[in-house]
Amino acid sequence: MESRVCVICDSRYGSTLELAKAIVAGAREEGAEVRLCRVELGEPEYSVDAGRADYLRAQAEYRALPRASADDLVWANGIVWGSPTRYGLMSTPLRAFIDEVAPLWRQGVLIGKVGAAFTSTGGMHSGNEMTLLSLLLPFMQHGMLLAGVPHSVPALVRTRTGGSPYGASAVTGFNGTLGVDQDEREIAHALGARMARLAAQVRPEPASVELAAAAAAEDRG
Ligand SMILES: Cc1cc2nc3c(=O)[nH]c(=O)nc-3n(C[C@H](O)[C@H](O)[C@H](O)COP(=O)(O)O)c2cc1C
Repeated sequence: MESRVCVICDSRYGSTLELAKAIVAGAREEGAEVRLCRVELGEPEYSVDAGRADYLRAQAEYRALPRASADDLVWANGIVWGSPTRYGLMSTPLRAFIDEVAPLWRQGVLIGKVGAAFTSTGGMHSGNEMTLLSLLLPFMQHGMLLAGVPHSVPALVRTRTGGSPYGASAVTGFNGTLGVDQDEREIAHALGARMARLAAQVRPEPASVELAAAAAAEDRG
């Protein structure tokens, strides 16, 4: 089966975007067709230093990406989404996108597809893995299968910063200026490659949630 991977990203200073690009490169190297998309950011940006050079550079690249839509998720058989952590959780713009595609949940169109996650945090112990786990939960609600990073990836055994069995990640430091290091990049690349391989193997099983609810009501009634 063809492998179609959609990578959806929120990023302000660019480190989450760097991870997204490493995931894309890994998936493409395994022969997947890949779409890299952004989500809509709210204006004004209260939570960032909009004068920082890395912010301006990253935003020029980020805002040139196509905006993710429900159609991208329908098209893909593998979906990888990620955002910077915000108070130990995924960011609001990514969460808003996930809410926006709620009709797909009713239609059950993502059932049986593969999902994976990535994030970037300032600290190593201030929400890195928790954010990854929170990013994976909506996939389960959609009836999807989860992909993480196995310990057969050498960088995962080596890393002293980001990257975990739960997904790709970066630790950018108190000021958010450390960027993505080599191990973090390799782990993200490996996640993309794994997603490309897995997405080629699964057969999505779309099934209407509405019909299941109607059948359950009939059984009760
Ligand atoms: C409002 C706000 C909340 C944040 N909350 C956390 C947090 O809970 N834990 C953490 O480690 N970093 C936190 N950070 C830092 C960012 O997650 C971190 O700088 C991240 O690397 C930015 O990713 P980006 O370069 O893709 O924008 C927060 C930053 C902002 C602006």
